[in-house]
Amino acid sequence: MTNKILFIANWKMFGNLNSVKSIESVINLSKKKNYKNAKIIYCPPYTLLDKFVIKTRKTKLCVGAQNCHQVINTGPYTGAISTTMIKKIGAKYVIIGHSENRSNGETNNQINKKIHSAISNNLIVIFCIGENLFEKKHNRTNNILKKQIYLGLKQIKKIDKIIFAYEPVWSIGTGKILTNKELTKQIIIIKNIIKNLYKKQKTKIIYGGSVNNKNINNLKQINEIDGFLIGGASKSSKKFIDIIKNYYR
Ligand code: 13P
Repeated sequence: MTNKILFIANWKMFGNLNSVKSIESVINLSKKKNYKNAKIIYCPPYTLLDKFVIKTRKTKLCVGAQNCHQVINTGPYTGAISTTMIKKIGAKYVIIGHSENRSNGETNNQINKKIHSAISNNLIVIFCIGENLFEKKHNRTNNILKKQIYLGLKQIKKIDKIIFAYEPVWSIGTGKILTNKELTKQIIIIKNIIKNLYKKQKTKIIYGGSVNNKNINNLKQINEIDGFLIGGASKSSKKFIDIIKNYYR
């Protein structure tokens, strides 16, 4: 996997055919020498996956899906998309365990099956973990993270195809964000949980939750972070570009 800093755009349930063209400015930015260490990945809704794959062909950008079904190939699962379908369309990444799906009833067990499915299809998993406000207030953050990691990664032997995305649920779309000191501490705790399970294997960990072109100036100072999972601010290419530019300023 790459050693570059990851800038992953999660478009959630936004975007239409007209938005595909809007990423051209981001493609242009990726060609500049100053940003050669930025790995930019777009996760548009399923309806735009093939359009994004075509648009980013022969560029440095990559494409990922926002979710998948746990069954590997095909089956009678209305509304679902398998990791084989995602792979075949040309996407390389898949977000699994996003809190917006967990809050819709997705369990750690299902997440684990999805991760197995993605890895067997050679996709890189963006594995989301994070505590909600209730859990944070009751000092349960570390236990929750541990549980999400242990159960989500059951029977997973290698983490070279997994990017851990720490997204505190209370920080998503709220503008609220941990201080650098708190976030650094939390990332180190997560790294230790992973180390306990995977010993010397390399860990990639990114942060998500209200990342914008201003707070990136602080966030970039945290050496423990390998990149960012960006929701709201990634839909506008201008804002997304500003985040990347400010990171390297
Ligand atoms: P926001 O950047 O809008 O807070 O969303 C974060 C997120 O959920 C990315 O997956």
